[in-house]
Amino acid sequence: MKIKIEDIKLQEIKADIEIIFIIDKNLDHKWVKDKEELKKLGFKGEVEEVAFLPEKGRLYVGAKLDHDEIRIAASKAVKALKGKEFKKAKAGVYIQNCPITNIKAFVEGAILGNYSFDKYKSKKEEKGLKEIILANEEYADKSFTLENAKKSIEEATIVAQSTNLVRDIVNTPPNEIYPKTFAKLAKELAKDEDLDIQILDEKDLEDEKMGAFLAVARASAHPPRLVHITYKPKDAKAKIAVVGKGLTYDSGGLSLKPSDYMVTMKADKSGASAALGIILAAKKLGLPVELHAILGLAENMIGGNAYKPDDVLTAKNGKTIEVRNTDAEGRLVLADCLCYAQEKVAPDYIIDMATLTGACVVALGEYTTGVMGESDELKKSMLEAAKASGELAGELPFNRYLPKLLKSNIADICNISSSRYGGAITAALFLREFIEEDKRDKWLHLDIAGPAFVEKEWGYNPYGASGAGVRMVIKWLQKEFVYNKKHP
Ligand code: BES
Ligand code: ZN
Ligand code: ZN
Repeated sequence: MKIKIEDIKLQEIKADIEIIFIIDKNLDHKWVKDKEELKKLGFKGEVEEVAFLPEKGRLYVGAKLDHDEIRIAASKAVKALKGKEFKKAKAGVYIQNCPITNIKAFVEGAILGNYSFDKYKSKKEEKGLKEIILANEEYADKSFTLENAKKSIEEATIVAQSTNLVRDIVNTPPNEIYPKTFAKLAKELAKDEDLDIQILDEKDLEDEKMGAFLAVARASAHPPRLVHITYKPKDAKAKIAVVGKGLTYDSGGLSLKPSDYMVTMKADKSGASAALGIILAAKKLGLPVELHAILGLAENMIGGNAYKPDDVLTAKNGKTIEVRNTDAEGRLVLADCLCYAQEKVAPDYIIDMATLTGACVVALGEYTTGVMGESDELKKSMLEAAKASGELAGELPFNRYLPKLLKSNIADICNISSSRYGGAITAALFLREFIEEDKRDKWLHLDIAGPAFVEKEWGYNPYGASGAGVRMVIKWLQKEFVYNKKHP
């Protein structure tokens, strides 16, 4: 679906249908031409409420003047037109009283809302909107120019399409995407964007002494891969590593998951998929930062050679880890990948993204990403970026007592906490052990276990993968290195 702005009045645009947002239930707005019909239909203009008047060629959606409400309303509009014959819609940006933020939100909401994953359906849904034209008239925001609007639409399209790409990867089942095929896909995508890519296989991981990563992968018929993609623009303002957990399947290993919990664990590759989406989007947007996406790809399975509770592993930085639960595997893969990132890249900032703990979902609910780290400033900046991007994020705080719960009697650290409580934070504190001390205030951990996979659709997220983390991190990069004057 394409979204464009044209320098003509709404009336002059030929389209099959017009989308009209009702802001704050105001049915008296001069642009609402069907007040009586809407009343008859019982339409009040509540958020998420839709009234479709096909014979009039108009579709009304309840909304509020808030950027994320605009996303949701735009997604409701395109969804209402799915499976129907309407190909081309138009909307007036005046409806949104339109600061540029709301135009971006409209575009993102429409593209995200139009997403569906039908690769494995014999019958594909082909009908639906192909094009939305925004009219350029009567805007309230003086900073609005046609040029600005066009650029914003392009940017929002890149961000939303990258999110949809990540959704596609995460939704693809584990019999099709496993470490080798994931790496192959990453290679194709990186080549399309002229990005450098290195793929490490099992032998390379051995040479790199990644004993924790290798142990997790050992019982799988599909050997692991580490993918390292580099985006290096001229005059980069900072060097950033984004490290993603890429468990193409997490059965739990010998600490096997119960059947009900195992379903959806194809989504345990969401962190790596997001990291891939972010670097591709950064390149397309031309962001002025050197980015390194490091994907730790493995499958956590059972078998005669599986790693076991009681094993002691040695990570790349020489630290020893007592395994007490093979289902706490993501932190083992990430531990080695974090060491790798610091050694090979020496980044100014290091961000890891992972569907790391069920505890994070318990703590924050299924819509919200957990943000953890040592630096209050960095956490604050990411939380603000999340908010501006339309993603939900909340902080989970470290304290002086929790690290003790990871003590092991026989190794340097244990892979699980001795307490049932605070599991999202203790997982992050485990990762912290693999960040060099002088780098810890430049590190952030994002636990996306909640929002990465949607079991019951919400907002503009249909059932399945949401692409969590992509929009938030892109916004963070823009906030820190494009808009922020702190980094010249
Ligand atoms: N991949 C899971 C975490 C997860 C749970 C992601 C639910 C998405 C939805 C992770 O590897 C895991 O199994 N973690 C364990 C850790 C425990 C053994 C300390 C968990 O959360 O139960
Ligand atoms: Zn697990
Ligand atoms: Zn996992």
